[in-house]
Amino acid sequence: MKVAVVGAGTMGSGIAQTCALAGHELVLVDTNPGALERARETMRGSLARMVKKETIEAREAEDALGRVAFKHGITGLEDAGVVIEAVFESLPVKREVWSELASSTSEGALLATNTSSLSVTAIAAFSGRPERFCGMHFFNPVPMMALVEVVRGLRSSEETVEQARAFTEGIGKTPIVCEDKPGFIVNRLLVPYINDAAHALSEGVASAEDIDKAMRLGANMPIGPLALADLVGLDVCLAAAESLLSEFGDPKFRVAPLVRQMVRAGKLGRKSGEGFYSY
Ligand SMILES: NC(=O)c1ccc[n+]([C@@H]2O[C@H](COP(=O)([O-])OP(=O)(O)OC[C@H]3O[C@@H](n4cnc5c(N)ncnc54)[C@H](O)[C@@H]3O)[C@@H](O)[C@H]2O)c1
Repeated sequence: MKVAVVGAGTMGSGIAQTCALAGHELVLVDTNPGALERARETMRGSLARMVKKETIEAREAEDALGRVAFKHGITGLEDAGVVIEAVFESLPVKREVWSELASSTSEGALLATNTSSLSVTAIAAFSGRPERFCGMHFFNPVPMMALVEVVRGLRSSEETVEQARAFTEGIGKTPIVCEDKPGFIVNRLLVPYINDAAHALSEGVASAEDIDKAMRLGANMPIGPLALADLVGLDVCLAAAESLLSEFGDPKFRVAPLVRQMVRAGKLGRKSGEGFYSY
């Protein structure tokens, strides 16, 4: 089956690599030629690490890269049976991309967005084929993370959801079907958890180190919530928390003022060298 992945950033390149390793012919599309070049290098590096760890053989890595075509511009995707969009997390950008995809993909194609926080139902409407549309929410880094949330939009057909479930299973992932509600499953639970840890820190419950240690030793978490926030990026955590608050309008999602202040100060976590910890 030929797959088109639109958006060659962090997620698009990971999704493309995973599909190609599973044997799909693939076209990776972006409007930025630099992004396509970076995606090629990222995939090459990631596949080389898998070979080194003996997860795959050198020949498999080579064949996978050979199955990927890099394409500048959203045209001529009529031969793709599955189209997965992973462009910027912005509704206006997704609207523009899906209105272009509506005329450059075939009627029968399975259509999916990798959005984390936007409404799948809203993006489906831009495609003009909402019954053929669903969410396929992959996790970062895609080659390592087993889960895909298959999100049922309000107008997704049962056949579409079933095809998405089977497709993601076929590329070696574990799909879980959920409804199109803000945060789906993982972010709905994880974002308030991180946010509550920031509330606890600012209330002086304990130090960042002790909050994280408590959750590792007392709840068997592999990483503490504040260290996790630094890893994800505080700007990303803030945007996700704001989106849950505005979508649900429920004060239980109140954003920790400390996180907002840290983002204003440029303390974004690992990527800026400082967050709840220094790097
Ligand atoms: N990064 C994560 O941890 C993560 C996890 C799950 C889901 N997501 C979701 O995946 C999507 C992509 O996120 P990302 O982190 O890979 O972003 P990114 O910024 O790394 O990549 C986005 C890519 O989209 C391209 N793009 C922008 N406009 C385009 C257009 N009109 N046509 C074609 N390509 C275009 C950009 O050039 C860029 O290469 C978002 O919806 C995000 O919410 C991200």
